Amino acid sequence: MIYRPIVLDEEIKFSKKKFIVSKTDIKGRIIFINKNFSEISKYSEEELIGVAHNVVRHPDMPKAIFYLVWQNLLAGNKISGVIKNLAKDGRYYWVIADLEPKFNSKGEITTLTAFRRAAPQDVIDTTEELYATMLAIEKKHGMEKSLAYLEGFLEENEMNYNEFIEELIKPKGIIAALLATFKRMFG
Ligand SMILES: Cc1cc2nc3c(=O)[nH]c(=O)nc-3n(C[C@H](O)[C@H](O)[C@H](O)COP(=O)(O)O)c2cc1C
Repeated sequence: MIYRPIVLDEEIKFSKKKFIVSKTDIKGRIIFINKNFSEISKYSEEELIGVAHNVVRHPDMPKAIFYLVWQNLLAGNKISGVIKNLAKDGRYYWVIADLEPKFNSKGEITTLTAFRRAAPQDVIDTTEELYATMLAIEKKHGMEKSLAYLEGFLEENEMNYNEFIEELIKPKGIIAALLATFKRMFG
């Protein structure tokens, strides 16, 4: 049984130097987490290993975002996104997540890795508005329509998803350097 907390409208803030790392198998079951993951999500390592990654799924997240995540990962591509996660205590924390597949020597995907960092307020503000609209569309008309809305939104801004995300979340300065080190250590 997956534990589902009562959702609170309270944010967990954490240092932008604290990267949250997890790895999953190709079904999205967690096989590795770092200490920051436990500390921020409030789940112990024992509670996380072996369970589906949707353990931290927040009900404010549109399905369409995870559809895009999985579509890209299983096609062998990296993808980044802004995600609102749900901690065990019911509070939420916003992250910028870089997700990537890892391959064996035959070119088959073996594991999926995620590196997350705290999302700055301006990123949260833009994303929150977009996701709220997408979620409302999903509830009324289904995921296809919310994907179409996202496409329309991107077209209006003359960008594809990757360009939009890159523009929105590009890490800078010390954070970019620290993140690169982390990816080397845990990648
Ligand atoms: C490496 C990796 C990391 C993920 N990280 C998160 C995460 O931090 N939060 C989240 O809600 N979903 C994350 N997901 C997506 C989940 O697997 C899942 O698709 C999502 O929570 C939606 O749940 P659902 O498919 O049951 O609707 C991750 C998936 C992978 C492969």
